[in-house]
Amino acid sequence: MDARIRPARRSDKAPLMSFIKDVWGGHDYIPTVWDRWIRDTKNRMYVVVVDGVPVGMNRMRLMEDGSAWFEGVRVHPEYRSRGLASMLGENSMRVAKGLGITTFRLTSGSRNHTAHRQIARIEFRETARFSVYEPPRVSRGAGDARRVGLGETADAYAAIRGSAEYRLGGGVFWHDFAAASLTPEVVDLLVCEGAVWRLGRAAAVVRDGGREPEAWKQICFLGGDPGDAVRLAKGLTAGWEKATERWIFLPQGSPIIRQLRLAGFRRNYSNILFERRAAKG
Ligand SMILES: CC(C)(COP(=O)(O)OP(=O)(O)OC[C@H]1O[C@@H](n2cnc3c(N)ncnc32)[C@H](O)[C@@H]1OP(=O)(O)O)[C@@H](O)C(=O)NCCC(=O)NCCS
Repeated sequence: MDARIRPARRSDKAPLMSFIKDVWGGHDYIPTVWDRWIRDTKNRMYVVVVDGVPVGMNRMRLMEDGSAWFEGVRVHPEYRSRGLASMLGENSMRVAKGLGITTFRLTSGSRNHTAHRQIARIEFRETARFSVYEPPRVSRGAGDARRVGLGETADAYAAIRGSAEYRLGGGVFWHDFAAASLTPEVVDLLVCEGAVWRLGRAAAVVRDGGREPEAWKQICFLGGDPGDAVRLAKGLTAGWEKATERWIFLPQGSPIIRQLRLAGFRRNYSNILFERRAAKG
């Protein structure tokens, strides 16, 4: 078998979508993002070509914390279990290392055991498990959530860093289905863009994206005192009725979860965060 990896091209769409359209019973998201991904010059997308035919793909996103995020790995059913997904992963790590990146992350649904075996094969380790919660359709806010101002960055960072959720979740926040570390520099950036909120002894990071009818809003990080955190979540999500996806990411084991459930928030799905670190230099 002659398998080679090269950057993705526009002409790869048809051969790849011919099998991706059937992944997960036709519910794969790749067909809806492919055109955006192929136009994106900041991040990288690769295909694996066997005997001249594209039979697999993956994508690498360069994250704001200096890590690389691997996603969208798909291999044609007839070409699985031959190491092609692992080849794509190894290739991305090689490219990332060439850019000076030493932290690689990816996520997988908690039940995708086939993917977990392949992920273990390229030596990624589980960092944390997350559950994604949805607010009740009509949510009434407490109204006392406060956006963190520029002079309050150090205090907000301390609240995030000191929370059980920071520890349980491996210190990351989620954005557009990818995770990055909440380093002091990243928290600085988030405060500058107005994405960090406080209420009492709780802190949250909020982001939105997409366009109607696919608009999404996310509490990408929520941590601190459980009572304050739930009031903060209620305040932030009131008025989110129009968004298609309204998600709150919480690491499993967080004491906030119980109180969030009592407030009517419901779990949508669970995922696992995997990580691999390479030696520097
Ligand atoms: C998950 C997925 C990408 C794995 O692709 P793959 O090319 O089959 O993965 P790999 O071959 O690299 O590794 C997986 C298996 O092949 C085996 N393998 C790897 N290299 C091999 C080789 N050279 N010879 C024989 N077997 C090999 C691995 O041990 C593993 O075996 P197992 O699952 O039987 O225990 C593929 O199943 C897929 O596209 N699934 C649908 C989409 C999906 O779930 N994507 C992942 C989302 S996180």
